[in-house]
Amino acid sequence: MADGLTIRRAGLDDASTLAKLNQQLLDDENSRFQPGIGALATRLAGWISGQEWSVDMFDNAQGELVGYLVHGRRFNQAAPGGDEMYIRQFVIDRAHRRNGHGRGAIALFLETRCVPGMRVMLDVLETNPAGQAFWSEIGFAPYATIMELTAPRASDIAPSDTSSDQ
Ligand SMILES: CC(C)(COP(=O)(O)OP(=O)(O)OC[C@H]1O[C@@H](n2cnc3c(N)ncnc32)[C@H](O)[C@@H]1OP(=O)(O)O)[C@@H](O)C(=O)NCCC(=O)NCCS
Repeated sequence: MADGLTIRRAGLDDASTLAKLNQQLLDDENSRFQPGIGALATRLAGWISGQEWSVDMFDNAQGELVGYLVHGRRFNQAAPGGDEMYIRQFVIDRAHRRNGHGRGAIALFLETRCVPGMRVMLDVLETNPAGQAFWSEIGFAPYATIMELTAPRASDIAPSDTSSDQ
C-alpha cells in the first residue's frame, strides 16, 4: 500500500530521471507529443528552475522514487477566490502501479500543496482511459470537454470547376 509515501521538491539534478518518467507518461496516455528524452529533460529543468511550475517527487517507505507531479497556481474567475491549482503532469512509475501510490500521492499533494477548499484542475486525454478511470475513482469529475477539428488543407480540397457551363 501507499503507507510511508513522502513528497519533496525536485532539484535540477532530478531532471534526467524525471524525463524517463515523463516519457512513460507520454507513451501511456498515447500522446502525439513525442519530443524525445533530451528535450523532456530540458523542459523539466526549466520548470524546476522557473517560477511558473513546481515539480514534486514521491518516494516510498524504502526511499524509491515512485512518481512525480508538476503543478502551478493560476487565475480562473470561475474558481473560489479566483485562484485554482492546475496539475500539469502526474505519473506513477510502471513498476509501482496499482499499489495505491497514485491515490496516496494525490492525497499528500492536496494536504501539503493545496489550500483547503481550493479547486484543482487537470486535463486528461481521450486516448488515456486508464487515467480517466483513475481520476474518477479518486473523486475528480469531468468539468469541460476540449474539442478539436483540423481545418481542411489546400490538398484536401478537390479542384473546383471554374467554368460556368452546366
Ligand atoms: C494513472 C496512474 C497515475 C495511476 O497510478 P496508480 O498508482 O496505479 O493508481 P492507484 O494504485 O492509486 O489506483 C487507485 C484506483 O484508480 C483506478 N485505476 C488505477 N489505474 C487504473 C487503470 N489502469 N485502469 C483502470 N482503473 C485504474 C482503480 O480504481 C484503482 O483502485 P484499485 O487498484 O483498488 O482497483 C498511473 O497508471 C500512471 O501513471 N499512468 C500513466 C500516466 C497517466 O496517465 N497520468 C495521468 C495523466 S492525466
